[in-house]
Amino acid sequence: AALHVYTQERGAELGDLFGIFFEDLNHAADGGLYAELIQNRSFEFDPIDRAEYHALTAWEKVERGSGKAEITVEDSHPLNTRNRNYVAIDILSAGDGVGIMNLGFNSGIPVKEGENYLFSVYARRDASFDEPVRVTIESVDGTVYAEAAIMVHSSEWVKYETTFTANATDSSSRLVITATGKGKLYLDMVSLFPEKTFLNRPNGMREDIAALLADLKPKFMRFPGGCLIHDGSLNPDDRNSMYRWKNTLGDIAQRPARRNNWSYNQTLGLGYYEYFLFCEDIGAKPIPILPGGYDPHHKRIVPLDELGPWIDDALDLIEFANGDPSTKWGALRAELGHPEPFGLEYIGIGNEEVGAPFFERYPYFHRAIKEKYPDIKVINSSGPFAAGGEYDRGWKSAKENNSDLVDEHYYQSPEWFLANYNRYDEFKADEPKVFLGEYASWGNTYYNALVEAAFMTGLEKNAHAVGLACYAPMLCNVDYVNWKPDMIWFNNHEVFGTANYYVQKLFMNHQGDHLLKIEANGLEKKQEIPAKPINGAFALETDRCAIQFWDIKLVNNDTGETKDFNGLTAELSDTEEDRINGTSKRSLELGETDWENYTFHIKAKKISGPKGFNLIFGK
Ligand code: AHR
Repeated sequence: AALHVYTQERGAELGDLFGIFFEDLNHAADGGLYAELIQNRSFEFDPIDRAEYHALTAWEKVERGSGKAEITVEDSHPLNTRNRNYVAIDILSAGDGVGIMNLGFNSGIPVKEGENYLFSVYARRDASFDEPVRVTIESVDGTVYAEAAIMVHSSEWVKYETTFTANATDSSSRLVITATGKGKLYLDMVSLFPEKTFLNRPNGMREDIAALLADLKPKFMRFPGGCLIHDGSLNPDDRNSMYRWKNTLGDIAQRPARRNNWSYNQTLGLGYYEYFLFCEDIGAKPIPILPGGYDPHHKRIVPLDELGPWIDDALDLIEFANGDPSTKWGALRAELGHPEPFGLEYIGIGNEEVGAPFFERYPYFHRAIKEKYPDIKVINSSGPFAAGGEYDRGWKSAKENNSDLVDEHYYQSPEWFLANYNRYDEFKADEPKVFLGEYASWGNTYYNALVEAAFMTGLEKNAHAVGLACYAPMLCNVDYVNWKPDMIWFNNHEVFGTANYYVQKLFMNHQGDHLLKIEANGLEKKQEIPAKPINGAFALETDRCAIQFWDIKLVNNDTGETKDFNGLTAELSDTEEDRINGTSKRSLELGETDWENYTFHIKAKKISGPKGFNLIFGK
């Protein structure tokens, strides 16, 4: 049953209306939802990610007692071709141990007393190094919370693993790796995970943030972006590549770190398999968004005759999600641990696209997907709201191609949201549906949340036209802010939902199934405002509100005879947006009449907006 009841001429299914959008900005993945505690675990940070980054970002040299070491980053004997950098610890003088320490995210590495942490590292040594390597979790001043020793026995890369139990709680600790003796030690893929992740998934999600997302009960999750998907080069092997999902699967040591367009490095540890699994775990339908062969930020364009691999990315992704294990990509999914299909229903091509090259390329994707997978719903894109023309181009393309949905985005003032409560009233049920893939009013105050709630009722009541909607952005690490407002804020050990979060939760937890068709004359209060016109004219003056008016008439006080001006209503009203935005004034000439004998009637009501309106008589 529906929670909200509207005077509504159309019934509609609410289907998958309210969901979430995950993009790795504000360190939403690394240093956020992805539970890895080590920052720059594979020494791949690079100035291309962010000017001040280098391969040892978040690492510090450790020299204890009289210890002396040289720490360098090398790439001549890499772990694999996608993970080239590694650190070399050259022991000049062992002292009480030399090596490196990782600073984690925010204030450090958070550990809790009695909890287990899974440490792993790839290591090799040169022939002269023959001592145990000491691995500790320590406080800033060196108090040891957990300790292990590993014997590195080979000059080739070997993975070593151990489990720590922390003996104290500290959100600012460090992971320290030290060696004694002499010679050289090489390390790569240094990882520390809490054993407890969300539903105890390996390579999984931070429990507290994931639980907050699960509590929303979202119908779907859009991922992995955002601008993040299409900002990059066309070569998938390039560290500056656009987001190519095939790079994000399997062994994390084989995933190439990537420049994230939000000015940091993205490990891709949280990859497509993890996204699908997480969606399943929280009961959300997955909605992956793929680049459409065009980077609107840098105008990089895939030539039409080279679009094949990009279209294959879309087809293969559907096979990866839904294909039988006897298919190539279905087999990979099974091998990764999920023989059952993930039940993909939607796929999005492009994000907030501005520019003709995208709309020239979209039909190729659309046709190929529909031909092979007619039941998959294909989402077209449109430029950001401010781009105006691009919005139109998105809708035009969607109608021409029979896209199932069009991805609209807007970030606007609370007033805009109130005034646009009726935005979808006139949208047609038999045209592409709206995927409101990103929206938020500018702020995390209660007022913003309230306004968004009001707007969401406008989405619900137009479920005939609005198929999907999700607030954006979703996650923000307080120390790495790219964008605000955001729905959920966190540091390395705490997480908070904003007022906006609780509005989203309310709507998702109580989303109706079906919008009732209601014919209920009189449910709305229509106020009659009788007045006498002066000088043969009247005006409506609005102050930041949208109004409706109707039933304009003059009634003869003696005879009851009525002169009706309803035909002139259209003359008075301008486009809805004109009336809504700011202050406006509309006048109507009523002509010469014996005014003393007449009463002027108009029915008017404010539909939205913070202020009100006046009726003014006279010129
Ligand atoms: O949500 C933040 C950004 O806003 C998204 O990456 C992009 O699509 C939009 O411009």
